[in-house]
Amino acid sequence: MERSAAQAFQGRDVPAFLLVHASPPEAWRPQLKAGTLWVVESEGQVVAFLAATATGDRLHIDEVDVDLGAQGRGVGRRLIGHVVRWARDAGLAQLSLTTFRSVPWNGPFYASLGFVEDARLPELQAILAAEADKGLSDRCAMVLAL
Ligand SMILES: CC(C)(COP(=O)(O)OP(=O)(O)OC[C@H]1O[C@@H](n2cnc3c(N)ncnc32)[C@H](O)[C@@H]1OP(=O)(O)O)[C@@H](O)C(=O)NCCC(=O)NCCS
Repeated sequence: MERSAAQAFQGRDVPAFLLVHASPPEAWRPQLKAGTLWVVESEGQVVAFLAATATGDRLHIDEVDVDLGAQGRGVGRRLIGHVVRWARDAGLAQLSLTTFRSVPWNGPFYASLGFVEDARLPELQAILAAEADKGLSDRCAMVLAL
């Protein structure tokens, strides 16, 4: 799923390793155990997933991916909308993520969902620093007040 989704970055100014990277399944086990990993199924196939981690009253989206063949059909928007409602119902105050500022279906897409660029939280600064160490530039932190 991660590798398929990342093919959308072909021809974009992103590091080449992103196109072939896939996290080991264990990487998402904590979110699965915590009940903060969602998948979208279509005709018996998983076509999207979102993994998030709750820290205090904030839910951080660690990863969201839609299979390349299912992109651009509203799956991502519906999935994030579902997680926004879930987080509100859980009494959380904020949703956060880090993303590419200039990729049109990243920063501008999340802005259209109400996220605003905000890197004041030290935890988000630490994530951006770790991403920069891996060669990911043009990244920003975004926060949605619930
Ligand atoms: C980002 C992502 C999760 C969005 O999910 P999606 O199901 O493709 O998006 P939706 O169909 O819900 O559309 C969301 C908006 O993004 C736009 N969009 C989606 N894919 C696009 C593309 N390849 N190029 C331009 N715009 C695109 C849509 O036009 C839509 O805008 P609109 O609602 O104003 O029409 C998904 O495209 C994806 O997995 N992309 C590759 C990996 C990635 O970018 N992960 C997120 C990193 S933070």
